[in-house]
Amino acid sequence: MQITSGIRSILSIPFAYSLYQKIVFPRDKLIRDYIKPYPGQKVLDIGCGTGNILKYLPEADYLGIDSSYEYIQTAKKQHNRTRASFQHVGIHNIALDEVKHFDIALAIGVLHHISDEEALSLFKTAQNALKPGGRLIAVEPCYVDDQSFLAKWIISKDRGQNVKDKNGYNQLASQIFNKLNIDIRHDLLRIPYTLAIIECIA
Ligand SMILES: C[S@@+](CC[C@H](N)C(=O)[O-])C[C@H]1O[C@@H](n2cnc3c(N)ncnc32)[C@H](O)[C@@H]1O
Repeated sequence: MQITSGIRSILSIPFAYSLYQKIVFPRDKLIRDYIKPYPGQKVLDIGCGTGNILKYLPEADYLGIDSSYEYIQTAKKQHNRTRASFQHVGIHNIALDEVKHFDIALAIGVLHHISDEEALSLFKTAQNALKPGGRLIAVEPCYVDDQSFLAKWIISKDRGQNVKDKNGYNQLASQIFNKLNIDIRHDLLRIPYTLAIIECIA
């Protein structure tokens, strides 16, 4: 579900990936409109990459997991702080009994990198990890009818090749979560881009 050859291989280098994300995707609006942090909020970040979100969550109790050893090593070096930890583990291998009672689960830019089967595992993992009323926020590139040609083209060139439209994400998430809402946003990145913000309530 990923293309990692050619120019896209640069993004496998943790430093290059972090830099690209910092320039292109400031997380302020995502934090303000969807994550809504508060002191002591228990955050599970599934597919955390190099932990870019952490600087926006200074008072969170944070666990980031990722299947990339290089990204996790970089995350550990970049964010050496108490109440934040990182684990090198894939979605299929998470110890479900140990990952519990979270207020919020994040999956930012992960679903379009994985198969539908893995995506269902991710939704199940999040549901298991959340307290009743807890929220999963998944953020994904999305195809919509009214998007600019440039946004559509940039999304089509992503490393992740399982990009869906709103209906596709809804069909997947609703197999696990009864309550969900999907917002379409064109204004969260500094480049022409369309994101689906998929909010699922446990
Ligand atoms: C586009 S990056 C997003 C990283 C981070 N969430 C962010 O916002 O910067 C997608 C991440 O998903 C991770 N990933 C892909 N498949 C995974 C899996 N099966 N289990 C855990 N992480 C996975 C990748 O290693 C990568 O770090």
